[in-house]
Amino acid sequence: MVKVLVSDPIADKGIEILEEAGFDIVYNPNPSDDELQALASDTNAWIVRSGTKITAELLKDARNLQVIGRAGVGVDNIDIKEATNQGVIVMNNPDGNTISAAEHTIAMMMALSRNIQLGHMGIVNGEWNRSNLVGNELKGKILGVLGLGRIGREVIKRAIGLEMKIMGYDPFVNQDVFDQETVTLVDLDTLTQESDYITLHMPLLDSTKNLFNAERIAAMKSSARIINVARGGIIDEADLAQALNNDIIAGAAIDVFESEPLDMNSPLIKAKNILLTPHLGASTHEASEGVSFGICRQIRDFILDEKLSNPINMPITDMAQLKQIKPFLELAETLGKIEMQLAESPVKSVSVECFGNIEDSKPIALSFLIGLFHDMTDNRINFVNAGVIAEERGISFSHSLNTEPVSFANLIVAHITTDEGTIEVAGSVFGDQHPRIVDIMGYEVDVRPKGNMLFVQNKDVPGVIGKVGMLLGEGGVNIAEYLLSRTPNNDSAYSVIKFDGEINEELLESLKKVDEILTVKQLHV
Ligand code: NAD
Ligand code: MLT
Repeated sequence: MVKVLVSDPIADKGIEILEEAGFDIVYNPNPSDDELQALASDTNAWIVRSGTKITAELLKDARNLQVIGRAGVGVDNIDIKEATNQGVIVMNNPDGNTISAAEHTIAMMMALSRNIQLGHMGIVNGEWNRSNLVGNELKGKILGVLGLGRIGREVIKRAIGLEMKIMGYDPFVNQDVFDQETVTLVDLDTLTQESDYITLHMPLLDSTKNLFNAERIAAMKSSARIINVARGGIIDEADLAQALNNDIIAGAAIDVFESEPLDMNSPLIKAKNILLTPHLGASTHEASEGVSFGICRQIRDFILDEKLSNPINMPITDMAQLKQIKPFLELAETLGKIEMQLAESPVKSVSVECFGNIEDSKPIALSFLIGLFHDMTDNRINFVNAGVIAEERGISFSHSLNTEPVSFANLIVAHITTDEGTIEVAGSVFGDQHPRIVDIMGYEVDVRPKGNMLFVQNKDVPGVIGKVGMLLGEGGVNIAEYLLSRTPNNDSAYSVIKFDGEINEELLESLKKVDEILTVKQLHV
């Protein structure tokens, strides 16, 4: 039975979908480290929010894991690189909490602007402190929005309703997307210097880590306030606390932290004019239900129908297309298996060329890699990690679609190079689903690639078939097919011999000793 581990709290609505699908659900929203390791080791699917850290160590032990679902947007709690290496698909559910995060941003901005948290704390501590808590209107103020994706845009819509002027910055978005009168795109320095409020809506990346450090914070207006409902680590927390305490800026509202839960010794806790919330951006009933329902449906559809939605690390998104081209994929995988068995030394480069009615070379080429690597490791190899495995081994990899006419309805030509030279095998799918090898090293053949085979290159002189047949017969090997190919102006020939059973090393050595035989390889596909 398919096992699904849910190791963070998610709404019942999603769990019901998994139950209806008949999965074995392990719901443990607060496991200890040891429990998590034990639970992960035999699960097929794993659903988390931001609480569970899916580390490389946990992934290495999770031998049955096929898919990780993140109920929400940020995947910084998942070691994506290791998941990819292990062939585990990671998907998120990015839309379910957009509105909640945008509304929380507006709530933080308004509360900060009117000192609501300070007023509340004052009253509960017996103070009635009106004169020290004079705030600002938002109307007419400049809001600088960094990150113009889903949440940034929803924040903009709401800020327009508050009659704010909007500046935006996103290195991947250009002005055409917005009416310049309403949202003016500027560079990062201009946004930093001119905004009255700055709100962050980008992921934590190498390029955004500590983007707001002491230097950048000092470039803000002294009356400006900053809001972070995106990710901890984009603002340097120590630098922010210092800037607030020294009135370098007027306030900060922070929902996300470098390390969560926030340590009570963090300098942010006692910083001036700060408003802190414990990662509440997505904490609404609507968002909890939305992400739970969304991710559980995605996981169910993937497990039952191989349907992919919002994959983070899958080079191919159209799984329906993969089903349609299954015969080509199987052929390519077979070519990979054959070429790996023909190779005498490590593969240095791979190139796959597709002709005829094949419309996309990438999945075909990845399938070839899957075949090439199939005996290399006991880790699973699939579309997620085949390219990465090639890269890690320094194997250069290319693929192309070629429109030149060929004498087959479709043709896949795969080359690998090794220190010994190039190996080329080509195949075609006859009819709808009959795979054939049609070329081996330039020799035209017509081989149904299945079972045990001998690939023999020999001098094109009389008597070779007889000698080979005799040796195999003496060794008790029953020949099923003997396919010979000759090419004009060539003094060698290529044979593919299919047989029942297996040929032992001794017999293989006797074949290699036949004078006329140049190369002989036993293959299995
Ligand atoms: P998104 O992918 O739709 O948008 C992110 C945008 O950031 C993209 O447009 C991207 O081009 C931009 N970007 C990348 N690098 C940038 C840079 N250096 N400067 C400016 N922009 C840059 O993501 P989203 O759904 O809008 O989410 C935004 C962030 O909010 C994510 O980090 C997400 O994890 C976080 N989030 C937090 C909460 C919460 O509970 N606090 C809830 C939901 C999402
Ligand atoms: C997200 O990235 O989706 C949010 O931070 C909310 C969450 O962690 O659940």
